[in-house]
Amino acid sequence: MRTLIKGGELINPAGGYHQIADLLMEDGKIVRIGHLPEEIQAADHVIDAAGLLVVPGLIDIHVHFREPGYPDKETIASGSLAAAAGGFTSVVCMPNTKPAIDTAETLTSVLEEGRKSAVVHVYSSAAITRGIQGEQLTDMEALFHAGAVTFTDDGRTVVDSSIIYEAFVTAARLGVPISSHCEDHRLVTAGAINRGEISRRLGDPGISPLGEELMIARDLLLAEETGARLHIQHVSTARGVQLIREAKRRGVHVTAEGAPHHFSITDEKVLEFGALAKVNPPLRTAQDVEAVASGLADGTLDVIATDHAPHTAAEKRLPLAQAPFGMVGLETCVGLTFTHLVHTGKLSVDAAVAKLTIEPAQIMSLPGGTLSEGANADVTLIDPNKEWVVEPEAFHSKSTNCPFAGMKLRGKAVATFVSGQCVYKEAR
Ligand code: DOR
Repeated sequence: MRTLIKGGELINPAGGYHQIADLLMEDGKIVRIGHLPEEIQAADHVIDAAGLLVVPGLIDIHVHFREPGYPDKETIASGSLAAAAGGFTSVVCMPNTKPAIDTAETLTSVLEEGRKSAVVHVYSSAAITRGIQGEQLTDMEALFHAGAVTFTDDGRTVVDSSIIYEAFVTAARLGVPISSHCEDHRLVTAGAINRGEISRRLGDPGISPLGEELMIARDLLLAEETGARLHIQHVSTARGVQLIREAKRRGVHVTAEGAPHHFSITDEKVLEFGALAKVNPPLRTAQDVEAVASGLADGTLDVIATDHAPHTAAEKRLPLAQAPFGMVGLETCVGLTFTHLVHTGKLSVDAAVAKLTIEPAQIMSLPGGTLSEGANADVTLIDPNKEWVVEPEAFHSKSTNCPFAGMKLRGKAVATFVSGQCVYKEAR
């Protein structure tokens, strides 16, 4: 089957390519890119992409798909539909499932379920410690050979330095990145939101920025010492960004991500949305939001990743202190990125696309992230000017926990192709 995407603005950051062009897909592969002569334009489907961006399928290296364990919140199948609707063609799942993804057997079953039921490519991380308890290392070597693309106890930090040191040494030997959720939970145990003006007003003990920054600093030193590749997840504080900036300057092998909620909204959203705006690391201050955006702009933060964290409506109706941390993010990522970074002039469209495609692919050694002849036809069409209002009830995710309801955004993924198959398409 041949599909022609005609006359779009093609952006391929890996090759520095940005021009109006056609893209022809056949049997799951990209076969031609460029101004195609009439005689080879015959196709089963022709998509008029005038006014649209044609970019490599987006890659999110930080999602929680809740299988095994919590299918009410999300399954691998439903999460993949949310991914496709957000323009993503590949995702990396986090291991804080039940049981945790801490054995080769569980990892293999997750990857098999991905192949069987998902409409996008599903990759997975594996836990650093058994049961994500921070006490005993998993068999990282076996998990690596079973397909783990990174190791993380995401949702928690491995606080014991001797254990995390061993994990870094093993990761360095295997050549696989450690993805670090940075939070010294001994400092932040009781808080639900950022420690500051809003937490004081609401009587919450607050989550200190220092708890995140201490662990960023520690992990940067561990990466420097062991030579392991470190990827810092969801950086939320100005000083955290600065620590990474300085470490990069001195040559530490570190990459880092910014999440859309951390570059677009502050902890004031808690006043409006309550527990729907409870996330870990928490929404911080305007100064931190600005720092995350600047970190993305100057390359300190390499990727945009959603930390898509679905929870049931009942859980999120609990009081702030008891509700779980997290918000869904796959279906608002492109809108938030364009509205808050691209249309504000903080980030070029090419840089934004790179941070959603080639950068995450390279960090996790995933296929994809580029548009090139002969490559798998993972392709996303984005309407950069489409105005829309966030309606969580319309999400493809099983969950609707989202503090962006009612927000007007400009920019949206409008069609997603995985291996040449259309897995999402919006009426124009
Ligand atoms: O807000 C969060 N939710 N942060 C995390 O690190 C974990 C995630 C979850 O699993 O719900």
